[in-house]
Amino acid sequence: MNLQERVVVITGAGAGIGRASALEFARAGARLVIADINAAGAEETVKQIEALGRQALAVKADVADPSSVEHLVEETLKTFGRVHVLFNDAAIQVNKTIEDTTIEEWNREMAVNLGGIFLCSKFFLPALRRTKGCIINMASVNGFFVEPLCAGYCATKGGIIALTKAMAIDHGKEGIRVNCICPGYIDAGLAWGYFEAQPDPAAARAAAGKLHALWRIGKPEEVGRVAVFLASDDAAFMTGSAVVVDGGFGSGLPPQN
Ligand SMILES: NC(=O)c1ccc[n+]([C@@H]2O[C@H](COP(=O)([O-])OP(=O)(O)OC[C@H]3O[C@@H](n4cnc5c(N)ncnc54)[C@H](O)[C@@H]3O)[C@@H](O)[C@H]2O)c1
Repeated sequence: MNLQERVVVITGAGAGIGRASALEFARAGARLVIADINAAGAEETVKQIEALGRQALAVKADVADPSSVEHLVEETLKTFGRVHVLFNDAAIQVNKTIEDTTIEEWNREMAVNLGGIFLCSKFFLPALRRTKGCIINMASVNGFFVEPLCAGYCATKGGIIALTKAMAIDHGKEGIRVNCICPGYIDAGLAWGYFEAQPDPAAARAAAGKLHALWRIGKPEEVGRVAVFLASDDAAFMTGSAVVVDGGFGSGLPPQN
């Protein structure tokens, strides 16, 4: 994929799938804006991109805070002048039933996972319109298949799939494509947190691979490469799609051992 000189903003790129995706975009020639609430994580991602000989800017940003997102847009345009791709990856996961979830936890999960996509898309759209750019939203197989102890999270991921399709319809005629990615278990922060929340974390981790037809969980870069494809001209006729990257999760195969 050739994304030479395209400007790509990735939220939540200070760790996990966001960081791995940023490195894949950099390898494809893009210039990156690394946005994360964790400034140190964002700086570390920039360091890794610079080691590849590519350019990146770290911006501390809370996607749930309108003024922080406006600041992110300003910094992006000040440094690069334009933006071609917005990858809304940042999310949190409350590993509780609805009854155990506090009102503060519920509100924060909605504000980051769904509200963050709303705010970043809203404030980046004028710039994306100028480049006929694209938006990639991070959903999850949990938007289709739910699991125990993460009800609010599943609700946000189902919402993101619907939001993606609605945004695609609203902005398609402007040449803006909007797709989402639905990964299965990926070896990164939110899956680690989910394992830790189970009664036997080691057993949960060991069992997770067998939920996938490929009998393993995914690597962050295996999601990142799909994001690069979706951002590229090779995906020019794709919009409103929920692209499943899940190693065959929930394929109905019982664990064989
Ligand atoms: N790991 C998985 O198994 C898995 C599976 C399906 C989907 N996903 C999705 O992939 C995305 C990344 O997950 P991950 O496992 O890499 O997570 P992670 O925890 O490793 O990384 C998430 C990053 O988002 C940042 N972040 C959190 N709140 C933020 C905010 N308010 N503003 C800006 N940044 C914020 C964190 O600081 C962190 O750097 C999420 O959208 C998640 O729902 C993950």
